[in-house]
Amino acid sequence: MSDVSHETLLFERWPEAAENLKKFHDFLCTAGVERGLLGPREIPRMWSRHIANSVVIESLIPQNARVVDVGSGAGLPGIPLAIVRPDLKVTLLEPLARRVSFLEEAVEVLNLSSTVDILRARAEDVKDRHWDVGTGRAVANLNKFLKLTWKLVSPQGQLLPLKGEQATSELAEAQGFLTKRGLKGEVLQVGEGLIEPATTVIQIRLDSGRLGS
Ligand SMILES: C[S@@+](CC[C@H](N)C(=O)[O-])C[C@H]1O[C@@H](n2cnc3c(N)ncnc32)[C@H](O)[C@@H]1O
Repeated sequence: MSDVSHETLLFERWPEAAENLKKFHDFLCTAGVERGLLGPREIPRMWSRHIANSVVIESLIPQNARVVDVGSGAGLPGIPLAIVRPDLKVTLLEPLARRVSFLEEAVEVLNLSSTVDILRARAEDVKDRHWDVGTGRAVANLNKFLKLTWKLVSPQGQLLPLKGEQATSELAEAQGFLTKRGLKGEVLQVGEGLIEPATTVIQIRLDSGRLGS
């Protein structure tokens, strides 16, 4: 499926968000590439590999959830989620100043300041535990991602790291961390019919485990 087909499918699925999705696409292709947040080779696959890949995990996120996007970089997956799901409160967690400036501009250009905030920090230094969903993409392998994000999400919440082909082997490597807390992870494919190949995400529901260890 071509990049343009992904664009068309996203606009059909979220017509009310089409204008802002397009603005974000264009912002990534211009400022995002000029400032080195994404390579120029990403331009022809910005819809499929970045925006569609990110946005489809919204189907796993409950209404009105507070979502933290750990290592947000250029706003992926947090900004596409905020665009199509105005009911969410999204925090973009990012330690690097240059990326934080880009995120601040993106939030302003897209008029998202009522539902998106930006926290400049490393995940391990954040002491709040009030998010319902912890997501992230291309930040670390699953084992490290869990250690970074675990403490940010409430005991009723869930972790939704986006993964690629290595999802199953990363889940196996993280089994020690999960078993110790009585947790299970499930590899899911989401976005069928909207993105090809479908997005791979690992869902870890914290309410199924023992907390505090
Ligand atoms: C490869 S980029 C991925 C950016 C974006 N999530 C994406 O998919 O395009 C990894 C990002 O994680 C951030 N990062 C690395 N270590 C982190 C940590 N300990 N806490 C929060 N963010 C971190 C980096 O600054 C960088 O922006």
